[in-house]
This record gives sequence, C-alpha cells and structure tokens, in this order.
Amino acid sequence: MKEVRVSLVGFGNVGRATASVLLKKSRFFEDRYGVKINVVSISDTSGTVWLPEGIDLMEALLVKETFGKLSAWTNDYEVYELTPGDVVREVDAEVVVDVTNDKEAWKWHLAALKEGKSVVTSNKPPLAYHYRELIGEAEKRGVLYLFEATVMAGTPIVGLLRENLLGDDVQSIEAVLNATTTFILTQMERGLSFEEALAKAQKLGIAERDPSGDVLGIDAGYKATILHCLAFHPITYDEIRVRGIAEVTEGEIERAKTKGKTIRLVARVEKGRVAVEPAEIPRESPLAVESHENAAVIRTDLLGELVIKGAGAGLKETASGVVSDIIKAGLRAV
Ligand SMILES: NC(=O)c1ccc[n+]([C@@H]2O[C@H](COP(=O)([O-])OP(=O)(O)OC[C@H]3O[C@@H](n4cnc5c(N)ncnc54)[C@H](OP(=O)(O)O)[C@@H]3O)[C@@H](O)[C@H]2O)c1
Repeated sequence: MKEVRVSLVGFGNVGRATASVLLKKSRFFEDRYGVKINVVSISDTSGTVWLPEGIDLMEALLVKETFGKLSAWTNDYEVYELTPGDVVREVDAEVVVDVTNDKEAWKWHLAALKEGKSVVTSNKPPLAYHYRELIGEAEKRGVLYLFEATVMAGTPIVGLLRENLLGDDVQSIEAVLNATTTFILTQMERGLSFEEALAKAQKLGIAERDPSGDVLGIDAGYKATILHCLAFHPITYDEIRVRGIAEVTEGEIERAKTKGKTIRLVARVEKGRVAVEPAEIPRESPLAVESHENAAVIRTDLLGELVIKGAGAGLKETASGVVSDIIKAGLRAV
C-alpha cells in the first residue's frame, strides 16, 4: 500500500468535514486507489499538531469540537507554534491542503510548490489574485495545484474546464455561484425585505455575521475570476466588474415576478470580460436555481450549450471537492 502524507492547514468547517471523510472512507480509498492517506499535521490558528506516523483524526475532531482549539490537545501529541509557512518547510509531506480563510495564503502555497509539494485548496483569494504565478510554479516543479472546491463546492466545474473540453473553444459562461444571495433573493420573492431576508439567512447560519463577502458579490466575483482563468487566460479580481445584491429593491423583485422571471446574482464570463451583477432570469432557465444549488451554462464551439448544476455550498459537498483533489495529488505523488 502506497502512503501519501498530508499537511492539513485549517481545521474549521471545511477542514473538519474533510478530516471526517478521510476518516470514514479510508478503507474505500485504500481498496479503490491503493493509497493510504496519512494526515501527519493539522493546523489551526492556535497551533500545529504534528506526528510523522500520522494523526488519529477521530481524536483530532473530538479535541477541536470539544475545546475549540488544537492547542488544547496536550496529552499524546506535541503542539507546535508553526505558521503555515513553517509547516510547509518543516513537515515531511507530499500534499499541503489549505482549508483556511487566510487571504495571504498564496505566499505559503508558492513556498509549498517550491518545496516540490502539491497543493490542494478551497481558499479563493490566492487564485483570484495570483493564478498565473501559482499555476506557473506548479508546472515548473511538476507538482499539482488543485482547487476544485473553490467554485461550486464539489460540483466539478473546475475539473470540467481544466481536464475536459480540451478541444473546445469556450465562448462564454453564465453562472449563479453564490447560494447565500440566492437564499436572500428567494426570501424577498416571498415578501421579506432585504434586511429581513439577510437577518433570516444569518439566523439559519446561511450568511456569515459579516455578510459583505456574499451580498456585495465578492465571493461570486472571486469564483467568476477563477472561471475566467480556467476558460480563457489568467486575470485578477481587480479586473472584473462586480455589483452585489444589496441594492436590489422589493419593486424590482415584483416586476421580475410579473414577467415570469426571477432575479439572481449572475456571473457573465467572456474572454477578457467578467461581470457579476443581479439579473432577471426566466423561471425556466437552468440558472433559476433554488436553495444551495449553483448552476453554470457553458457555451463552446463544438459542444454548444452545456449545463452543470449541483450543490454550491455545504460541508460534505465542499469536502467532496477537497478530498477528490487530495486523492488526485496523492496518486501523482506515489
Ligand atoms: N464553508 C463552505 O461551504 C465553503 C465552500 C467552499 C469553499 N470554502 C472556503 O474554504 C475555506 C474554509 O472555510 P470554512 O468554512 O471551513 O472556514 P472556517 O470555519 O472559518 O475555518 C477556517 C480555518 O482556518 C484556520 N486558519 C485561518 N487562518 C489560519 C492560519 N494563518 N494558520 C492556521 N490556520 C488558520 C482557522 O483556525 P481557527 O479554528 O483557530 O480559527 C479555522 O480552523 C475558506 O477559504 C472558504 O471560503 C468554504
């Protein structure tokens, strides 16, 4: 059995969901791929647990869920004060997984690639600002830089654009990429004001306490930037146009309804041009998604119109993308 050593950086919602899948499905991955995925370090902001033989993920989950921080774990394991940059340099591992919300993580992604390690991430800003540099470094070093979960959670639009459609010329992508705004807009259709709908989303844990990333369109903008990089050429978030849903009025929602339409935060991606803004969509359009679904309509010269639709949020759904990338990186490493 080949063994792949993994450094897991970030042990929040997605980090723990990823660890749970690795724990529950380890036998399945061993049988199916002949690979044992061994998590040798886990980091949160309180510290890094590091054991070269591999960490007991069940215990790690228990400690984090009970005490809220890995540094509370002092019985069997050493907890080290290491930054992610230190982890990348010091921990012996083939794959570094970034499931943090560290906006400056591109620096240690680059350091990991330079160390000859593959990187798997669900963290969007490194790609939205440093795509060219990161992909270029991975190619130079012959390692993988994988980011399926950054767009549409585990619904594989990144793999589709990166590994398939290689003979196609993508002409445009239209997509709904943020589930929180979809929730707020559907609540407004049911008669709530923007403020009431936002408060409901926050109460249900769908929107964060600081909702600006979602309602101002930043999250969808990061994702649209990544789609442009994949389908056309590298750009950065600074080059795109973004308008969120904060100014959508109840009157606009009503007018759309009377026309048999619905308003969604839509990303339009064409070569050299990306715009994210609220738009009216016919009710029968694949983009008229509900709940936590995302959808994208990809138009290409050969295939015509292709629709990809599925979960765009959720923890096991995001873990699906992260774990799939870990397995890909692991199979390359062994
Ligand atoms: N949640 C989703 O459905 C979803 C879907 C797709 C993509 N994503 C992306 O996935 C990432 C993680 O999301 P999440 O929901 O899991 O966030 P989260 O619950 O806030 O977890 C973030 C984790 O990163 C750790 N962290 C932050 N900066 C760090 C640093 N410099 N060094 C070490 N650890 C650090 C935090 O440590 P502490 O625990 O000590 O605070 C926490 O464990 C984000 O980039 C998010 O945008 C999330």
